[in-house]
Amino acid sequence: RHLVPGRRPLKGRKAIVTSGPTHEPIDPVRYIANRSSGRQGHAIAAALAKLGAEVTLISGPVTIEDPAGVTMVHVETARQMLTAVEHAMPADIAVMVAAVADWRVVHAADNKIKKKPGEGPEPLELEENPDILKAVGHADDRPAIVVGFAAETANVLANAQAKLQRKGADFIVANDVSPDSGVMGGTRNAVRIVSPTGVETWPDLDKQEVAMRLAERIASALVGNEA
Ligand code: CTP
Ligand code: CA
Repeated sequence: RHLVPGRRPLKGRKAIVTSGPTHEPIDPVRYIANRSSGRQGHAIAAALAKLGAEVTLISGPVTIEDPAGVTMVHVETARQMLTAVEHAMPADIAVMVAAVADWRVVHAADNKIKKKPGEGPEPLELEENPDILKAVGHADDRPAIVVGFAAETANVLANAQAKLQRKGADFIVANDVSPDSGVMGGTRNAVRIVSPTGVETWPDLDKQEVAMRLAERIASALVGNEA
């Protein structure tokens, strides 16, 4: 199945993919962010498009190029990403790969925050961002296939299984993002696919190959093996 050229099992299907980090402003020149490069999310968007899906890729700030053949939406913050996802709904497939910042600064300053010599720094007051995957997984017009990622540095499997439940996803792609793994910002990924029916361990692969396998998995879950 994998090797039939030009096979487009997702033709006529709509997919939404989130990718990259989000940036949460502190003041006009500073922000909260993380090490996500967007490589895995962008590769998944491209792979779904290759299988024929009409893909909207909603990305936080990244330095990699926009993939060909997808509709791009560039955003900065988690709240902007949620709004963009809501605008792109309804869809048949949602794959939420973005490393969304969990917290934002309550009052981002209008002007650059200045040092106050002798007084030390003012603590930043944070509040939780909306959970985009959870919102999509529980939406009235929920996509038929909802996929999330679980970026973990410990207890990978238990945490991924909890996320599957909590977020209403069909699959969680669990990856170990410990510094030693080199996954965050790197080109390779070793993942486990967690679903209500069990856990599948994939070997260490290029992120492009993880993307292609995942797109194939989504296609067979959505349209079955006749495609
Ligand atoms: N996610 C999201 N919106 C958020 C946080 C996470 O859509 N505000 C999505 C991510 O895109 C990913 C999944 O939820 O698909 C899991 O993200 P992760 O950071 O691993 O989990 P959290 O629920 O944020 O929990 P924690 O960071 O505490 O492990
Ligand atoms: Ca998180």
